[in-house]
Amino acid sequence: MKKGNKMFTIGVIGAGHVGLVTAACLAKLGHYVLCADNDEDKIKKLKKLVMPFYEPGLEEIVEHQYKKGNLLFTDSVKEVSEKCDVIFIAVGTPSTPDGSADLSYVENVTVEIARALCAFKERKKENIYRLIVEKSTVPVLTGQWVKKTFQLIGPTGIEFDIAANPEFLREGSAIKDFLEPDRVVVGVENERARKIFEHIYSKIKAPIVFTDVKSAELIKHASNCFLALKISYINAISQICERVGADIEKVAEGMGYDRRIGKDFLKAGIGWGGSCFPKDVAAFIKLAEEIGYPFNLLKEAQQINKQQRLLVIKKAKELLWNLKGKKISILGLSFKPNTDDIRESPAIEIIEMLLKEGSLIKSYDPKAMDNMRRIFPDIEYCNDAYECVKDTSLLILLTEWEEFRKLDFEKIKRLMESPNIIDGRNYLDKEKLKSIGFNYRGIGRN
Ligand code: UGA
Repeated sequence: MKKGNKMFTIGVIGAGHVGLVTAACLAKLGHYVLCADNDEDKIKKLKKLVMPFYEPGLEEIVEHQYKKGNLLFTDSVKEVSEKCDVIFIAVGTPSTPDGSADLSYVENVTVEIARALCAFKERKKENIYRLIVEKSTVPVLTGQWVKKTFQLIGPTGIEFDIAANPEFLREGSAIKDFLEPDRVVVGVENERARKIFEHIYSKIKAPIVFTDVKSAELIKHASNCFLALKISYINAISQICERVGADIEKVAEGMGYDRRIGKDFLKAGIGWGGSCFPKDVAAFIKLAEEIGYPFNLLKEAQQINKQQRLLVIKKAKELLWNLKGKKISILGLSFKPNTDDIRESPAIEIIEMLLKEGSLIKSYDPKAMDNMRRIFPDIEYCNDAYECVKDTSLLILLTEWEEFRKLDFEKIKRLMESPNIIDGRNYLDKEKLKSIGFNYRGIGRN
C-alpha cells in the first residue's frame, strides 16, 4: 500500500452500499484507501471490477481509482489494521427479531482490529496510532462499547481515538450525496481526531458539524426517523384526501413551498422501504424503550406505513372485485428507482398479499428482477413493460423508474385485458390516462 506524500492511509471495512461508496469516494478525494470485506468472492470480483450491486456512477469511480492505485481491495481485516491509520467500520447493522440493531458485526470487526494490532505491535515495537470510525448506522452509545472493547483487547501502548461519522447517502444517488452532501457530521473526542477529519473532508464544500460521539450517533437515527415520519405524515394526509376527494399532490405542493416544511420527502405512495428506514425506525423505537421513553410517534409512523401497502390490495379489489385467478402486472420491484435493491421493498409485501388472494403475477423491473427471483421464483418475469402488461386486467406501478413515464399507454391499453391502473407512486399522468380510457387509481388522488 503506497502512502507517498499522503498524511495517512484509510481503511474501510465492509464493501456494502455505504462501505464501497465511501471507499471509492474517499479515493476520488485523493486518499489512499484499502477496502476490506470478509466475502472473498465479492473481493475477487471487485478486483476484476465487477460491482456487487448497481449504483449509478460507482463502477466508473472504482475502475479509475483502482487503476490509479488509490483504491485497493482485500479480504483481510488484519491487513487493514496493519496498514491503515484511519479505519472506517462500515459493516451491516441488521435488525434482530425484536427490532433492535444487531451490533455483533461491529463488535467482531472491533475485536479483529484489536487482535491484529496486538500482534502487529509485538513485531513493530514502534508508536502506532489508529483512528477507529463508526460509519455504519449504529444506536447511540455504540462508540462507548467500541472503545471499551478496544481498550480491553487491543495492545497496550497504542494510541487510538474513536469517532462517529454517520453517512447520509441515498441509494441511487449515493455518489453525489457523498461528494456533495448537505452536511458532514463528525463526532470526535479530541482535537487530534478532529484535525484528521478536517483533512479527510477538506475538498468537500459543505458544513462539517463537529460534535461529541454520542450526539453524532443520534443525529443519524434522528434524521432517518424524521424523514420516515415526514413520509408517513404525508401518507396520512393522503388518506384524508381520498376520503374528501382532494388531491394529495396539490396539497403537498402547497405545503412544500413553505421553507420551514420543504418540498422533499412529501411524496405520498406505498410507504417507505429499503435497507435503512424500516430498520432504523425499529431500532430507534427499541433503543428509546430501553432507556425509558416510549416513542409512540414513531410507532404510529410504522403503522401508517403498513396501511399504505394494504391500500393497494383494497384498491385492486375495488377495481377487479375478486382477485383470485386474475392476471396482474407489476411494474417496478426495487424499493426505489435507480437501484437493484429489494430489501424491505413494498413490492415484496404487496406481491405476497396478491399471491395469497390467488392472483397470477407478471412483473418487470429494469434492474431488480434477479434479486426478486430469489424471493418469488414462481411469478413471471418479463423482458419489458409491454410484455408484462399483456393480457393482464390490472397494472400496478410500484417503483417510479423513469422509463415507465415514457411508456406508450395507448399501446398498453390495447395489450391489457381490461384498462385498470393503480399508480402506487402518483407518478403517471393521471389526466392523460383517464382520457385514454384507463380506470386510474393513485394514492390520495383519484
Ligand atoms: C435513506 C436516507 O434518505 C439517507 O439519507 C440515508 O443515508 C440512508 O437511508 C441510510 O441510512 O443509509 P435510502 O434508503 O437509500 O436513503 O432511500 P430514500 O431515498 O431515503 O428512500 C427511502 C424510502 O422512502 C423509499 O422506499 C422511497 O420510495 C420512500 N419515499 C421517499 C417516499 O415514499 N416518499 C418520499 O417523498 C421519499
